[in-house]
Amino acid sequence: MKLLEKVTLGKQTLKNAMAMAPMTRSRANSKGVVSDLTVLYYTQRASAGLLLTEAINISEQALGSPLTPSLYNQEQIDAWKKVTKSVHDHGGVIYAQLWHTGRVGHSVDRNGKLPVAPSAIGIKGQQHFTSQGMKDYETPQELTLLEIKQIVKDYGQAAKNAIEAGFDGVELHSAFGYLPNQFLSESANLRTDEYGGSVENRNRFVLEVMHELVTAIGSDKVGIKLSPTVYYNNIENSSDPEAQFKPLIQALNTLPLSYIHLMNGMLPLDNHPNYPKNAVETFGSISKHLVIANAGFNKETGEAELEKGIAKIIAYGSLFLANPDLPRRFESNAEFNQLDHTTMYGGGEQGYTDYPQLKD
Ligand SMILES: Cc1cc2nc3c(=O)[nH]c(=O)nc-3n(C[C@H](O)[C@H](O)[C@H](O)COP(=O)(O)O)c2cc1C
Repeated sequence: MKLLEKVTLGKQTLKNAMAMAPMTRSRANSKGVVSDLTVLYYTQRASAGLLLTEAINISEQALGSPLTPSLYNQEQIDAWKKVTKSVHDHGGVIYAQLWHTGRVGHSVDRNGKLPVAPSAIGIKGQQHFTSQGMKDYETPQELTLLEIKQIVKDYGQAAKNAIEAGFDGVELHSAFGYLPNQFLSESANLRTDEYGGSVENRNRFVLEVMHELVTAIGSDKVGIKLSPTVYYNNIENSSDPEAQFKPLIQALNTLPLSYIHLMNGMLPLDNHPNYPKNAVETFGSISKHLVIANAGFNKETGEAELEKGIAKIIAYGSLFLANPDLPRRFESNAEFNQLDHTTMYGGGEQGYTDYPQLKD
């Protein structure tokens, strides 16, 4: 089975072709510091070829949701060191997913400060989970050019911090409507300067950040997650995602990355006739980097996807959340634990570190 075969990622050999997809679990403390429970959570899943962490805030400004972890001060870095050491001691490889939430946040969890975004356009028709319950989104503050340049630098510093914390690399979270995705989007980015108005300008922020990450930590250690056909968080990526994302993938081809991580659309595309039905195929086929495919895969469809030859790794989200020993379950055709939706975000060990493993 290809899923259980070794894969080369950058300069590393992964023990199988299964990644754990990044998943926010909201179990850090109010200072963005992860605990020993988080050490256990990732260690339990170290049989994945590649562990992608939950999204990690790159700066205080990046924060959008309560109890999400960060990576911009020494206490936060030191806490992650325990995670990476334990994962490495168990033979795992772990990348940190770098996060700036942009407009997907709320002032109640940002010391009273409004979220920031490419343009002053709030999310409509959805509410945000905050420490004070569900709240309507606010209108974010439009970023100045100086602030944009500072955020690019913040990503570079966070990548250096990730390496100091012992991570094997970093992944830019450029999917699902967070800040980089807001820059890419026709509906969230109405800027008239060099960061908006044309495909090239909307792609500029992501490319500048990717360049900064590579400059900060070197080649073969940087990946990116993209969701060209996901319109969650009021993201209309483009009336023509191929016109937007193909030039982006081609520009990424010129950087020494370790992978691109592509999500297929998870939402109905009936009202989006121009959206490609299979993002992995449409965009992965023009990438010269290793492709990680995600969203909705099980053992059989994951294996079939690898057989097609475009993706070399499959990222599993909820299956890995509920089944810490997922590769072993695939290998032995074992039953799967079911995901408990009520314990996905926040809380303690319940639904975090107490999913049963197969007995020896
Ligand atoms: C509890 C939970 C939290 C998630 N948090 C993140 C996140 O922090 N970053 C991210 O890129 N995707 C996040 N996702 C999306 C997953 O990475 C993945 O794209 C999605 O679950 C689809 O994969 P699956 O069908 O294998 O679960 C999250 C998903 C879940 C279930």
